[in-house]
Amino acid sequence: MYNMRDDIGEIFYSEEQLEEIVSSIGKQISEDYKGKNLLLVCVLKGSIMFMSDLMKHITIPCKIDFLAAESYGSETRSNGEVKITKDLSSDIRGWNVLIVEDILDSGRTLKKLTEFLRLKEPESIEICTLLDKPSRRSVEISAKYIGSEVQNQFVVGYGLDYNQKYRNLPYIGILKPEAIEKR
Ligand code: IMP
Ligand code: MG
Repeated sequence: MYNMRDDIGEIFYSEEQLEEIVSSIGKQISEDYKGKNLLLVCVLKGSIMFMSDLMKHITIPCKIDFLAAESYGSETRSNGEVKITKDLSSDIRGWNVLIVEDILDSGRTLKKLTEFLRLKEPESIEICTLLDKPSRRSVEISAKYIGSEVQNQFVVGYGLDYNQKYRNLPYIGILKPEAIEKR
């Protein structure tokens, strides 16, 4: 039987390592936003696992909401055209918004989302990204919370996809070159 785990060459972050990273970010957020009205905004679809684990480690009250964005381009990189395909469901005026993202790559997605949300007049907007690829940045944007930096590698799992596949892997891995070719 085909097991998609066989397509993974190297494990980049194991479940145990993810648990450690995510819990420490959650702890930091809980301290930084103490006494503030915190709204976590999950960027669909890639951030679902990160978001659901992260919120378990946040010990202060918070609201959650969802946004969806699509960027067009090749399978492993965006070309800059970002479209927002799902808007928030509540008014964020006066809220301290923390955008929860899977990976910050060229930065175009988060740049667009930040500009879009700023028009709604929140009290503050910050970014929390599990992974960051600073060497690939093409616009100026940075995150307040970063789980870990990634070199110029394409990773999948824990919400991250390659052509909509591998999101359900519980860890983050690097695809074998054959897996990219054979799809
Ligand atoms: P950006 O707009 O170039 O920053 O792209 C961000 C989006 O590209 C992320 O939300 C991911 O959906 C996707 N992406 C970038 N790098 C990777 C990767 O290594 N694996 C899976 N998706 C990625
Ligand atoms: Mg994404």
